[in-house]
Amino acid sequence: MSTTQIKTFEEYQEAYKRSVEDPEGFWADIAETFTWRKKWDKVLEWNFEEPDVKWFKGGKMNITENCLDRHLKTRGNKLALIWESNDPKERFVRFTYKELHERVCQFANVLKNNGAKKGDRICIYMPMIPELAIAVLACARIGAVHSVVFGGFSAAAMADRINDAQCSMVLTADGLNRGAKQIPVKRVVNEALQTCPSVERVIVVERLGWAVQMVEGRDVWYHDEVKKVGKDCPAEEMDAEDMLFILYTSGSTGKPKGVVHTCGGYMVYAQYSFCNVFQIEESDIYWCTADIGWITGHTYLLYGPLLSGTTTVMFEGIPTYPDPGRFWQVVDKFGVSVFYTAPTAIRSLMAAGEDHVLSYSLDSVRVLGSVGEPINEEAWYWYHLHVGKDRCPVVDTWWQTETGGIMISTMANVTPMKPSHAGLPLPGVQPILIDSDGNELTENEVEGYLCMKFPWPGMIRTTYGDHERCRLSYFSTYKGLYFTGDGAKRDKDGLYRIIGRVDDVINVSGHRFGTAEIEEAINHNKDVIESAVVGYPHDVKGQGIYAFVICNEIPENADHLRAEIVETVVSKIGKIAKPDKIQVVSGLPKTRSGKIMRRILRKVAEGDTSNLGDTSTLLDPDVVTEIVEGAL
Ligand code: WT7
Repeated sequence: MSTTQIKTFEEYQEAYKRSVEDPEGFWADIAETFTWRKKWDKVLEWNFEEPDVKWFKGGKMNITENCLDRHLKTRGNKLALIWESNDPKERFVRFTYKELHERVCQFANVLKNNGAKKGDRICIYMPMIPELAIAVLACARIGAVHSVVFGGFSAAAMADRINDAQCSMVLTADGLNRGAKQIPVKRVVNEALQTCPSVERVIVVERLGWAVQMVEGRDVWYHDEVKKVGKDCPAEEMDAEDMLFILYTSGSTGKPKGVVHTCGGYMVYAQYSFCNVFQIEESDIYWCTADIGWITGHTYLLYGPLLSGTTTVMFEGIPTYPDPGRFWQVVDKFGVSVFYTAPTAIRSLMAAGEDHVLSYSLDSVRVLGSVGEPINEEAWYWYHLHVGKDRCPVVDTWWQTETGGIMISTMANVTPMKPSHAGLPLPGVQPILIDSDGNELTENEVEGYLCMKFPWPGMIRTTYGDHERCRLSYFSTYKGLYFTGDGAKRDKDGLYRIIGRVDDVINVSGHRFGTAEIEEAINHNKDVIESAVVGYPHDVKGQGIYAFVICNEIPENADHLRAEIVETVVSKIGKIAKPDKIQVVSGLPKTRSGKIMRRILRKVAEGDTSNLGDTSTLLDPDVVTEIVEGAL
């Protein structure tokens, strides 16, 4: 497929060795395969102290020229994008590379016509329709920085993100389809924009044909605007280190932070990791089920596949509508050969029973992928047996919004595969494990904090508007290292198994939330004085959200209070962050210095109260008894 594809374990070992001994030569060879307007002056400059990381310094390029234009000669009539509706009866839509190129240019012209220019931040809040993919690429085409906000976030969450990045434009739709439901997206945007003075223009794509409130002078319809523009739009020349996009993600403290990725390094890393992990072939029909609102959608639905000239499938719907066979029906319909989804989806389909998967042939599938959270062995084996028919490798891909692309993963049929293990790092990735004293664990069969000791092209450059926050969050815990926030084990063969977060971050169905962020939302409720949120094991979501709340007075109707708290969280963050359990308590287990002992709360939430550890240092040990007795 590409000159940089590693095809055997021997080649992997060779490439890995070279990537450590001569990282600049290793990455230069890969970067050479792309279209650059001007070649870089220096492959890498870095320090993890500030941090300051520059890849392909001085290089000039545009990522859409690499996603689209450069394929036109050889793959112009090849399918670039297949879009499948939420409704199985609605006809699918296909775009060849030539057609997608044209649509992106048109959208880019609409953006320019409406005043957008290089460097502007543009918020995209859109359903999973083709225009979303096109809009993202159109921003990149003109050098505007896209900030996609997942459609499940609330108006308040969107407003925070728009204000943080000072976006001048919002791209949206009238509404969206999700299973049997329809959601008025534009109404959410209107609400958000009441507190977003930086936004001058809103471009609305029609999806449902609903009547929506348009603000005169600010809002325009895409279908009107597109009539005014042409189909040519030369790509803006970007510096390799110019910002490509911002994507907000949660951390252990404060509001979500805007992770910044830049043009050159992200491009190289997205394509390299995509074609190597999945061992992509020219004829593949590739489907990643993630929403473009998450990093997985950015890198492995959109950029990675298009950079590789692959046919990528985009799906508007959900796994269980109209029934839990929907994924498999779509796989058979398009002959999907590489399928990439999340453990939470696998577990929910597993719970719906085998019949739904057994009624489809799935003959076209050759590689399966998993992402977002640890995949438990039961789900791994089910996926391998019923979807992969015992013949397809399952690649468990570990990475983060901050890493830009896959870091540790089996490369399909190339490197060793072991259930529930991400496996070996990709060449160019240098993970290390650190013990609780901050020392490197050099042996195998160890467990520690997962860090990276060397930069890779797809890594985070800064957190938007607050570089110090980037340093504090990722580069200050262990000197000279990037800290992932995850704990991991390394087995006797050097394969990594990710345990999960070691910080106050909860991973709900593969989506990240800070406990502090959810607590802040809960505390907005007028009856709540204080709250503490922890994650607990959940059969489908991986982790559920368990909230302990202290109220002004003991509520007469606890269910009513719970419903109100849920409502507050939904309005501050979104439906995806709804607490699963809310326990009203009279106090929280705190140390004398006032720190909440979450360890105890986690045990209660897990239902494991046999050994709560030492509670003697607590301010009020009795409160623990009450909490244990009232556990849900
Ligand atoms: C966190 C990053 C990577 C895109 C989706 C999530 C967890 C991710 C795995 C995996 C175990 C995983 C980690 C990581 N995670 N993939 N294969 N095995 N855990 O991106 O929202 O930035 O979350 O997801 O805890 O730190 P994200």
